[in-house]
Amino acid sequence: MNLSDEFQRVLGRAKAICVLTGAGMSAESGVPTFRGADGLWKKFKPEELANFEAFIRNPQLVWEWYNYRRQLIEKVVPNAGHAALAKMEDLVDRFTLVTQNVDNLHRVAGSKRILELHGNIMRSLCTECATKTDDPHLATEKGVPRCKKCGGLIRPDVVWFGEMLPAGVFEEAERAAGLCDVFLSVGTSAIVYPAASLPQAAKRSGAYTVEINIEATEQSDLFDEVMRGKAGEVLPCIAETLQMTKGVKP
Ligand code: OAD
Ligand code: ZN
Repeated sequence: MNLSDEFQRVLGRAKAICVLTGAGMSAESGVPTFRGADGLWKKFKPEELANFEAFIRNPQLVWEWYNYRRQLIEKVVPNAGHAALAKMEDLVDRFTLVTQNVDNLHRVAGSKRILELHGNIMRSLCTECATKTDDPHLATEKGVPRCKKCGGLIRPDVVWFGEMLPAGVFEEAERAAGLCDVFLSVGTSAIVYPAASLPQAAKRSGAYTVEINIEATEQSDLFDEVMRGKAGEVLPCIAETLQMTKGVKP
């Protein structure tokens, strides 16, 4: 896939790049997305699984669902798109990766500076004393895990509907979007706020904005450029062009 002349020119000058990723980023790795024909929200009800009241009502059920997703994620590997983003991080002065994904695949692929807006499914959190743990086996134990310190119910460290994003993380993402030269929105339906406001923030501040998605989204018209294609195919082309424009030998 070829990049437009303008995108190539902008990449050549870019000192700061900000990328927002969503579930489509991991689709080629085999992680299901939320919306669309095979999306998780077609088979499961978010109001029964992804909010705090549902968890208090039936923590066992919610844990079973997160264990199922966690076990699925543990079996998959990052795709060429994740690898391309990790490579891009080394090619510009300031690179900020903002993700709505909880699957940890950006970290496994080698990305370093990651802002996780919706938490991380590999971590857990005590509902009473807020102690975090990244013991991946905790939640696979039978029953509902309890905090070793205070006995409180332990929950997955992810953001549920109606909850605030982790303190300070969105503000940092907003800052990066406002200061970047190039903003990429990858594999997200761009309808869940506040994440979905980041492309607009970037555009308002004069960044060159590009959407990478296999389908049109509600925000497609907003972008300077839309690249219709899979993240695992489009992002390696962008990373390669960035490398060439920076005069770095492959
Ligand atoms: P969605 O499932 O809403 O959207 C996935 C997007 O990825 C769609 O626009 C697809 O067209 C696109 N897509 C699918 N495969 C792709 C591929 N190979 N390459 C590029 N694009 C592809 O997922 P999100 O936008 O991430 O929140 O959803 C946002 C939030 O809603 C999630 O973080 C989650 C969910 O409810 C919480 O759980 C808090
Ligand atoms: Zn506790």
